[in-house]
Order: sequence, then C-alpha cells, then structure tokens
Amino acid sequence: MTAHTSKTLRVALAGLGTVGAGTFRILTQNAKILESRTGVVLTVSAVSARNKNKDRGIDLANVAWEDDPLKLAVRDDVDVIVEVMGGEGDPAYALVKTALENKKHVVTANKALLAYHGTELSAIAEQNGVSLCYEAAVAGGIPIIKMIREGLGANNISGLYGIMNGTCNYILTTMERTGENFADVLSQAQKLGYAEADPTLDVGGGDSGHKLVLLCALAFGCKPDFKNLSVAGIDRLSAEDIQIASEFGCRIKLIGQAKKLEDGRILQMVAPSLVPKTSPLAHVDGVLNGIFAQGDFVGPSFVEGRGAGEGPTASAIVADMMDIAKGTAAPVFGVPVNDLAASPTATASDWSGEFYVRLVVEDRPGVIAEIAPILRDHRISIESLIQRGRSQDEPVSIVIMTHEAKGGDIADACTEIADLSCVLDNPLVMPVLNI
Ligand code: NAP
Ligand code: HSE
Repeated sequence: MTAHTSKTLRVALAGLGTVGAGTFRILTQNAKILESRTGVVLTVSAVSARNKNKDRGIDLANVAWEDDPLKLAVRDDVDVIVEVMGGEGDPAYALVKTALENKKHVVTANKALLAYHGTELSAIAEQNGVSLCYEAAVAGGIPIIKMIREGLGANNISGLYGIMNGTCNYILTTMERTGENFADVLSQAQKLGYAEADPTLDVGGGDSGHKLVLLCALAFGCKPDFKNLSVAGIDRLSAEDIQIASEFGCRIKLIGQAKKLEDGRILQMVAPSLVPKTSPLAHVDGVLNGIFAQGDFVGPSFVEGRGAGEGPTASAIVADMMDIAKGTAAPVFGVPVNDLAASPTATASDWSGEFYVRLVVEDRPGVIAEIAPILRDHRISIESLIQRGRSQDEPVSIVIMTHEAKGGDIADACTEIADLSCVLDNPLVMPVLNI
C-alpha cells in the first residue's frame, strides 16, 4: 500500500446525508487532534450530493461542488474519495471503481457495494497501490474490521456471531420495553438516522447479510459473496414471539453468524434468533451492536458499541482516513486478492441446533395429531410445546421448541406443515443460539 507522503490529505465527500455531514463535522471540529495524531492536515476539497440547496448544518463555502459525483474521481485536488451515498449499483459502484483506477484511495460505509463487488474492487485497489477502507460499513463505530483483520490476525477463527443492525436491535428492544408497535418504532429509527434509505434492507435482514459477508471474508480469508447466504429478517415477528421467547428464558435478536463446519465448509446465515438471557448478546440494547469472535489462541472476544447513526459511523470513516494519512491501511480482506479462497457454500439448512417454531392454526381437535407425524418423519423431536389464545372461531398460536435438529429438516417439515388445511400462515422458524 502506498504511504501518503504530502502533509495534506485532500478529501472529496460523495454524499452529505447522515454519514457525509457527520464526517465533515468531525474533520472540522477535531481538525487539531487529527493533525497531531497523523502529522497530516485532512481537508475537504470537494463534495457532491443530489440537492445543492439543502441546509445540512455545515459550512461548505470554501468547498467545490460537483453535481455529478463521478467528477470527484478525476479531480487533481483530491487524494481520497469518501463514498457515502449508498447502494450496490451506480453511482456508488462507478465512482469507487473510477477513483481506484485513478489511483485515489477510497473510504466507504457502503456494505451493499462491497458485499456484491468487494472482490473486483479490492483487486483494482491492489493493482493501483491504493487503499479501499470500510470500517464504517460494519457495526458503525465499533472497530470490528480492525479487530478481525489486525487485532485477532494471529488466530485461526472458528466462528463469529453478532447483532449487526442497529435499526433492528432498536426496534426489538423498544417493542419489548414500551410495547409500541413495529411500524411506529421503525419510523423512530428512521428519524434518528439509523435506517437505510430503503428500510426493508434493515428489517428484512439484507443489511446484516451485507455486513456478515464482509466479516466472513476477513475471518476466513474467502471471497465475499452475498448470493450464498441465508437471510431472514424481523419483519414477521410479533409481540407474542418476544413474550413467549422470554418465557423460555430468551430474548430475540437478529443474529448474523459465520462459522467453520466440521466438514470444513463455511456457513453464513442471518436470522432472528433466540438468545439465552444469560448471554451478553441478550443485553445488547437499542442501537448498539455486539459481536463475538472465537479465535484459537485468544478464545472468545466480545465487542459492543453503537452500530448506526451519524457520530459512530463518521468516527469510523475518519479513522480510516487517518490510516491512509499515516500509510498504515491494510489489505482489503486481510490477504492479497489472489489468495482469497472460494466463497462460502453452507447455509441455514446446514445449521444444527434447537429451533423455535410458531404455527398459527385452527383451534379444533386433531391439529397436533396432524402436525406430529410430519415432525417425526423429519427426525424432529419436540422439547416443549405451548398454545396461546382461545376465543370463539379465532386462530391460535402453537409454539414448538425442538431438540437439536438440522435446519434443512426443519425447513422441509415446515413446508409440509404449511400445506395442512388447519395451518393458517407460514410457520415462523427461529434458531436458538446457545452462546
Ligand atoms: P443518507 O442520509 O440517505 O445520505 C445519502 C447521501 O447521498 C445524501 O446526501 C444524498 O444527497 C446523496 N446521494 C444519494 N444519491 C446520490 C446521487 N445519485 N448523486 C449524488 N449524491 C447522491 O444516507 P446515510 O445514512 O448517510 O448512509 C450513507 C451510506 O452509509 C450508505 O451506504 C449506508 O448504508 C452507510 N451507513 C449508514 C449508517 C447510518 O447509521 N446512517 C451507518 C453505517 C453505514 P441529498 O442529501 O442531496 O439527497
Ligand atoms: N441501517 C444500518 C443499521 C446502518 O441500522 O445498522 C448501520 O450500518
């Protein structure tokens, strides 16, 4: 990686929303600290966003404006492009690619872009001797990229598990605490600047998936690949699930997990999961994220911090700029691109453990007798079963906790169960994560 040699690092910001404006504020407010810690003055030369006239609460009087963000990548007065527009496609993709080809360093918070194009873009960065940094893309202000790539770099990592989406964690913990409904709490998360421009990425699990594939690539030295990933979100959860999980001694968290299976394959999956109340993950509340990594020499390491919002995300962006200023930025996924192994192939159907299965059924005799043989035929044993609600002609919820079973068997059984006439909705399935 080329060390930055001049005493000024000239930055262009593509995007001036929550993260872009926050980055500008840190660069202005903490300018002296940044200079004393890097020996380099960090200045903003140019910016781009859609609306030039929007008041963003920052003073852009001495900064050039480009209507077209791509023009930032060819300016002579720019050393680093900060891409904080979002989205896996253009203009973010074209900007980052052009900037790297023009030997400009890139800092981005865009996990979607890297989850889809990470291998290609890291190869271009490598060929051009520039950095592609993305600390802000995963877990907001928590330095998880640095932790996995550098801090735990001496370890063989066997697995990592965590809460990687601040919006979902805010929704789940606020619903549990206040009893407010899903839509109202999501709207609060949007106002607080936590959610993606398209919040279905948050609640549908896609955003956690984007982050997980980046962590998985770093931890296991494999190509990031969003296609080979099982993703489920929190959009089908109800207050009843939160309540019943609590009666089982658990909280529900949206968990991303990546681990090495006994057969050597790497598994990646994102799913709302039951976590025992005794686990530190159960106590990661609000917008916080929390991630466990298991290394062969270090053992389990757990980090927690704010996973979304202006301050934490901008803090991670500027930390990356400081690495570029000091010339200490590391290879994108920890090893040269040509040494990256193939992408993971194991998914949720390969995961083994206990499961929570909620069925909405007609309240009439014989329903359990219809469900039980299907479970038996798929080698699924029931650990406990509870039924909720009973009023005339109303459907009832049945929650089954299984003994250890395979994800693929549970999925097959649920497909058959969903076809029974007494079953009124698709079964909701959540793994129980015993950590
Ligand atoms: P945001 O508030 O919606 O800001 C997006 C910015 O990009 C806006 O300034 C917008 O311009 C600009 N923009 C969008 N499309 C553009 C285009 N075609 N040309 C020029 N400018 C364009 O989003 P954000 O929350 O800051 O997120 C930005 C990135 O950071 C995303 O990749 C997101 O996933 C990531 N991220 C966000 C957080 C968070 O907590 N918010 C945390 C970690 C990572 P206008 O302002 O004129 O509309
Ligand atoms: N929408 C994301 C979240 C932003 O809520 O976690 C941080 O990546």
